Amino acid sequence: MTNQKYKSIEPYYSKLIAGTMLWGAWGKEMTKAKRVELIETAFKMGITSFDHADIYGNYTTEKDFGIAFAESGLSRDKVQFISKCGIAMVCENKPYKTKHYNYDSSYIIDAVHASLKQLKTDYLDLLLLHRPSPLLNPEEVAKAVDFLLDSGKILSFGVSNFTSTQIDLLANYMPIHVNQIEISLNRNEPMFNGQLNYCQRKNILPMSWSPLGILKKPESQWPSKLRYAILKLSEKYDCGYASLAVAWLLKHPSKIHPVIGTSNPQRLQEIIKAQKIDFDTEDWFFLLEAVKEKPCP
Ligand SMILES: NC(=O)c1ccc[n+]([C@@H]2O[C@H](COP(=O)([O-])OP(=O)(O)OC[C@H]3O[C@@H](n4cnc5c(N)ncnc54)[C@H](OP(=O)(O)O)[C@@H]3O)[C@@H](O)[C@H]2O)c1
Repeated sequence: MTNQKYKSIEPYYSKLIAGTMLWGAWGKEMTKAKRVELIETAFKMGITSFDHADIYGNYTTEKDFGIAFAESGLSRDKVQFISKCGIAMVCENKPYKTKHYNYDSSYIIDAVHASLKQLKTDYLDLLLLHRPSPLLNPEEVAKAVDFLLDSGKILSFGVSNFTSTQIDLLANYMPIHVNQIEISLNRNEPMFNGQLNYCQRKNILPMSWSPLGILKKPESQWPSKLRYAILKLSEKYDCGYASLAVAWLLKHPSKIHPVIGTSNPQRLQEIIKAQKIDFDTEDWFFLLEAVKEKPCP
């Protein structure tokens, strides 16, 4: 085991995290003014953690964010920057011919240096390996992570889209603080296949990407039982469907931190209500039943 000393670090993230994947070239292509507004709105509402990946916007969104953040009045030590590396994408900025994953230590270190430069910061609060690779060598990853922690370029380390077994392999070499995975009302498998229980047991913080799941599609595409349940519960809890979906995740005892992808400040204002919703247990299962279209066994 390496880096026992870092086990004492308790990284802090806001309960809701702002995801930047669709802010730029992969989505809304927001202007600098809009990005500044969204960063400031999120911060005012207590969303202080921002989720990135080197590849977002074909390697351009971190830079867009860095420019906007520098223009906002916010101070770096009041926010947390999360980023991911490891996916090598084919696009015009890169020499790759085949999309692949790379977890060589020099690749990880270079990727972090590039993210720091784009984000205009000296450190990441959290570095995640974006996706597991069949070729991942834990000793090679540990070399990079040791260096990055020792030099203060990252404050903590985690993974994304890893199974419990894949985490075990890495955890023999370095502390894993976070696993960012897809979890939502309709992608609820991690609640049943032991993935979230594993996080609870190992003190790993789960973050959920795409927390709205099927609800981000037009209402006409939701199953009719789900539409009915959302209508009933939105009335009862006096909130919209997005805050209901997020509140449903927040009730899970593994302390899921949803990564919210909207680029719309008004929608963010609505979603933040999720933190105030005290979801009744029977209602929680009512929503689950509606999405599964059958009662639990
Ligand atoms: N680790 C990974 O492998 C991975 C993979 C995917 C994503 N992520 C992270 O997770 C973040 C969130 O993912 P996501 O964008 O799929 O999450 P999401 O929050 O489930 O969905 C956001 C999308 O839903 C739309 N939407 C529709 N109705 C909405 C409503 N009422 N309220 C809010 N949004 C609504 C938003 O459009 P508007 O912008 O128009 O509101 C936006 O396009 C990403 O930004 C990224 O940081 C990580």
